[in-house]
Amino acid sequence: MKNPPSTVSPVIKHARLADWIAQIAALCRPDSIHVCDGTQSEYDGLTARMVESGTLIRLNPQLRPNSFLARSDASDVARVEDRTFICSQKPEDAGPTNNHMDPVAAKEILTGLFDGCMRGRVMYVIPFSMGPIGSKISHIGVEITDSPYVVASMRFMTRMGQAVLDHLGEDGDFVPCLHSVGAPLEPGQQDVAWPCNPVKYICHFPETREIWSFGSGYGGNALLGKKCFALRIASSMGKEEGWLAEHMLILGIESPQGIKKYFACAFPSACGKTNLAMLVPPPGLEDWKITTVGDDIGWLEPNEHKRLLAINPESGHFGVAPGTSWKTNPNAMASLTHDCIFTNVALTKDGDVWWEGMTDEPPAELIDWQGQPWTPGCGRKAAHPNARFTVAATNCPSLDPEWDNPEGVPISAFVFGGRRATTVPVVVQAQLDKHERGLNWAYGIYLAATLGSETTAAAAGAVGQVRRDPFAMLPFCGYNMCDYFGHWLKMEERLSALPPIFLVNWFRTGPDGSFLWPGYGEFNIRPLIWMFERTEGGGGGEQTKIGYMPRYQDLSWAGVEWFSEERFAAAMAVKQEEWQQELALQEEFFSKLGDRLPHVLRVIKSGMELEFEC
Ligand code: GTP
Ligand code: SPV
Ligand code: MN
Repeated sequence: MKNPPSTVSPVIKHARLADWIAQIAALCRPDSIHVCDGTQSEYDGLTARMVESGTLIRLNPQLRPNSFLARSDASDVARVEDRTFICSQKPEDAGPTNNHMDPVAAKEILTGLFDGCMRGRVMYVIPFSMGPIGSKISHIGVEITDSPYVVASMRFMTRMGQAVLDHLGEDGDFVPCLHSVGAPLEPGQQDVAWPCNPVKYICHFPETREIWSFGSGYGGNALLGKKCFALRIASSMGKEEGWLAEHMLILGIESPQGIKKYFACAFPSACGKTNLAMLVPPPGLEDWKITTVGDDIGWLEPNEHKRLLAINPESGHFGVAPGTSWKTNPNAMASLTHDCIFTNVALTKDGDVWWEGMTDEPPAELIDWQGQPWTPGCGRKAAHPNARFTVAATNCPSLDPEWDNPEGVPISAFVFGGRRATTVPVVVQAQLDKHERGLNWAYGIYLAATLGSETTAAAAGAVGQVRRDPFAMLPFCGYNMCDYFGHWLKMEERLSALPPIFLVNWFRTGPDGSFLWPGYGEFNIRPLIWMFERTEGGGGGEQTKIGYMPRYQDLSWAGVEWFSEERFAAAMAVKQEEWQQELALQEEFFSKLGDRLPHVLRVIKSGMELEFEC
């Protein structure tokens, strides 16, 4: 990748941006600089060069037009949470759930690492907008990277290129996002397909609104618009400015009567956001319509009428491939029929892709995600469990007509969900008997704040261990988690109507370890419809110790009448012993959070302990 693509780079008219580019070029010493214009021909040039250099494999154009496979280094396959740092001046502003580094010390280390780190490579400058260009809710970033894979991916995931430079003008605000794979090339040195560095630092400077990422080329570590900007830096901006940056999908739900609402739903990584956002109503419920605004991140801001409006800051999907099939997520499969990049999936004999769960029967032979021959009995996975696809939102058949609306869409409900084998029922509304407006809001925040979930392959490390993942934001909150809870509590004053809050769990298992709730579109639509009814003042149910829950007769079972009342009861059970254990785990978490935890959350927890006779 020695020579930059043969397009003419846009001219930078923005003095501060030009200075920053010059300063970073002097530090990183690339062979050349390319400012991205975001055009299709630029993308085509880049991908062609990556095919030449071995970073991308072009898939069979008959089967998967304009699509590519990338195989990462085996050591660079997921976000690295233990190498992710919030570099605030005071450690307590990063808080007890984040890794902290002193900003001056961090810059010193990083400056050393970035010194000469782009030698032999092209330095790309990517102007990008998170959110529709020009929306009041949007923000601009500029990523400097030495990875052409990152450039190609950012073209799907963000609005990128000349239009953003035009909008920035001569003095617009932008968040500088610096990235390097950390693999300089000596003269004559042969490049590898996936350059990276065993030393990794993903550093965020919330006070100066900067990102420095070194050593990884993968996903959230490297596509800096995503978790680094749109969640960690943006959450801290939102705290200062009165808005929210959340790990939430946004879906539209329209009733057979034509009433349309939008829900914002937070689930930890690899826990079903993409699936829920693209849900296809099953036979028996085809009169309902679900549309997709976003599948991973939501920015939510009260307008002048104190109404909560949301945008999806992204413009593409970086979704988990394994488990995605025509059965589980037909809209994702349809999105992936052309113009996409797959990373760490398996390659078929005829030049197409495959991953676990795509078909019931695996192909007889494959090349696995590491480039090795693979057969069904070989004992290894063909695709990495965190293999992903990168594709434009506009490829998705369920894309909501308002997805690009700069005003955003009004949010009518919040849904929080984790991956829990026990304890948490399929659905419960955060509404307690004698509670009023503010107290039910606080109770919903308590349920979100104490959300637990099993760890997944989306982050490096052990999988399947239950940890507290408050608001599904544990790895993504850019400031003190206690202050984050406080910020959510304060939203009550900023909103005229408070969206109801629901807690869900698609992952409860029975004694034999199988899922009690069959989940996916066919089943998850039913609690969604019930929630829709709740926002309209309907939706039957009963009060329980943890909130308001539908009974069997309160959900529609159209098309799945075989799903028995007993099985539903098992999936919905609120068990005294399980909640006693749960509250003990919550206590551990609360002690870790310390004194800055808002008092009301402790009061609510004490109330729960009384209920469950702890
Ligand atoms: P990130 O992109 O990492 O933030 O993840 P995500 O929340 O968008 O996860 P995604 O929708 O891609 O789902 C990840 C995994 O969960 C896939 O393997 C799905 O098959 C599985 N999954 C999704 N919905 C359900 C469900 O209702 N039940 C069960 N059992 N599994 C589900
Ligand atoms: C997640 O891990 O929640 C993702 C994928 O959405 S990544 O962009 O790699 O963070
Ligand atoms: Mn995510």
